[in-house]
Amino acid sequence: MDVCLSSAQQPRHFGETPKTPGGQLEAKKKEALQKDGTGGPPVDSDRIESSLQSLQTFTPTNYASYTQENYLYAGKKIVIQESIESYGAVVWPAATALCQYLEEHTEELHLQDAKILEIGAGPGLVSVVASILGAQVTATDLPDVLGNLQYNLLNNTLKCAAHLPDVKELVWGEDLEQNFPKSTFYYDYILASDVVYHHYFLDKLLTTMVYLCQPGTVLLWANKFRFSTDYEFLDKFKQVFDTTLLAEFPESSTKLFQGILKWD
Ligand SMILES: C[S@@+](CC[C@H](N)C(=O)[O-])C[C@H]1O[C@@H](n2cnc3c(N)ncnc32)[C@H](O)[C@@H]1O
Repeated sequence: MDVCLSSAQQPRHFGETPKTPGGQLEAKKKEALQKDGTGGPPVDSDRIESSLQSLQTFTPTNYASYTQENYLYAGKKIVIQESIESYGAVVWPAATALCQYLEEHTEELHLQDAKILEIGAGPGLVSVVASILGAQVTATDLPDVLGNLQYNLLNNTLKCAAHLPDVKELVWGEDLEQNFPKSTFYYDYILASDVVYHHYFLDKLLTTMVYLCQPGTVLLWANKFRFSTDYEFLDKFKQVFDTTLLAEFPESSTKLFQGILKWD
């Protein structure tokens, strides 16, 4: 088993990291530059630079307590820093289901170099796995979870991914054309795990899913089904997407759907 990150490298809490983002940035840059010759895949130095610069953009999320959870996908140990203080700082059941599917269908999905955007990425497990499997990933979420998301992505991909993932703010239904103009941003896959639950933004979520899909884009949506409103969302989803049930994970009541936007 390869280890992307030894847990000794990872601080238990952001407060224990170098006090300035610049200090953390320099440490990551040094680590990235030492990468060549360590047996990892070749990396794109421009993307490293831009990812490391974006590390300065997001303020570390300041939760009172964290845990370090270990996962194993694609033969790599992945360490995700989580906090029960936010929905967006915990790995949810559909995330592990989607990771399992990506791992088992990497070739079939042509993930190598595929352009992927994840919505509601939370602490980032799915985006980490997609990156390790070779995709060019942009992980998005609400502003307050981006610090932890960025942290987990960088720590788990610097030594393991040919394309370092990006992090961007994406609030469902807000400023989509301004922040993700269709002429510039095209994605092969949109990924979403456990983004449907009891919240007030389901219509905006569906609008966002539709907006991000262009001809050729495949949406992979995994969700634990808990409430009647989840099934109501699924009905609306089926009205706008040609929908295929790809997999079921009965132990967690999770279903994985493929959606391809209807164009007629
Ligand atoms: C239940 S968590 C799932 C996190 C992750 N996808 C997983 O499965 O582990 C839902 C995620 O959606 C994000 N979210 C909720 N409302 C949102 C909104 N209006 N715009 C963008 N993201 C939102 C939350 O911040 C959170 O990260």
